[in-house]
Amino acid sequence: MQVFVTGASGWIGSAVVDELIADGHEVVGLARSDASAATLAAKGALVRRGDLDDLHGLRAGALEADAVVHLANKHDFHDMAATNAAERAATETLGAALEGTGKPFLLASGLAGVAPGRLATEHDPSPFHGPGSARGGSENLLLEHTARGVHAVAVRFSPTTHGVGDRGFTGVLTSIARAEGVSGYPGDGSTRWAAAHVRDAARVVALGLTKAPAGSRLHAVAEEGITTREIAEAIGAALDLPVAPVAPQDVAGHFGWIGGFFALDMAASSALTREVLGWTPTGPTLLADIAAGAYTG
Ligand SMILES: NC(=O)c1ccc[n+]([C@@H]2O[C@H](COP(=O)([O-])OP(=O)(O)OC[C@H]3O[C@@H](n4cnc5c(N)ncnc54)[C@H](OP(=O)(O)O)[C@@H]3O)[C@@H](O)[C@H]2O)c1
Repeated sequence: MQVFVTGASGWIGSAVVDELIADGHEVVGLARSDASAATLAAKGALVRRGDLDDLHGLRAGALEADAVVHLANKHDFHDMAATNAAERAATETLGAALEGTGKPFLLASGLAGVAPGRLATEHDPSPFHGPGSARGGSENLLLEHTARGVHAVAVRFSPTTHGVGDRGFTGVLTSIARAEGVSGYPGDGSTRWAAAHVRDAARVVALGLTKAPAGSRLHAVAEEGITTREIAEAIGAALDLPVAPVAPQDVAGHFGWIGGFFALDMAASSALTREVLGWTPTGPTLLADIAAGAYTG
């Protein structure tokens, strides 16, 4: 299959490209810079130059491909309105290009807000609808395309999709601990984050491309829930720093933009994903990765 991958040069995207090529697919990766284009070409992927805001380019990439995997995201946490608007526009454009074709369209989503206080399952719908909501409501928008002849599949990544080289949430938390001289956790530290090693998460995408039913949600979740206190303790041990609670009213000041995410309960099951895909995660756990120096080495 020729697979058009947006975000192909990113943390998860790079691992997805490796998996897709290993499975014998031809990958066309979207790249907005010479550096990203060179990285993709070195992996053996074809390159489509373009930006997420170039909707004509996104449409052309989707029309030419046998499948689309949409992983790009602006991730401007200081301008979430613009980030979410771009995500919705890209989803609309890619979905419209695939209407009536029956082609797979896999889209990155997350676990925030899905089922706080309990394990989210693949049956739980995203609570976000419409342009003004988180991620521009892209997961629900994607799944609406099932009725329009698109083989739509949402892939919910764990809030920490970890490994050596990750500059995402666990990387940011490690930097904050280093800067503050203390590894903090919000409140009583009992809220949980699901986790997966990046190679395991990428395998979910590659398997989902051929095995996930249209309209389904996949959970790229290897560990159901690690408490924020456990995460802070592991970071503190790796950096040889004290570990301390951060009172709810101080969370935003201490952690900045990531405080709201760190305080969110995002535990999830992947039982259905494992069954449907025949997927068994094999990578290291989050705490093992942190202890082995993945974030401090
Ligand atoms: N990592 C996680 O733990 C996690 C958890 C839940 C959900 N997700 C979602 O999973 C997806 C992949 O995440 P990630 O961690 O791999 O993100 P990432 O490392 O930040 O990569 C983002 C990708 O998007 C591309 N991109 C950003 N702005 C763009 C633009 N204006 N035009 C074209 N491309 C653009 C980047 O290209 P450059 O290489 O040129 O910068 C990069 O390839 C995202 O939708 C993310 O929100 C991730």
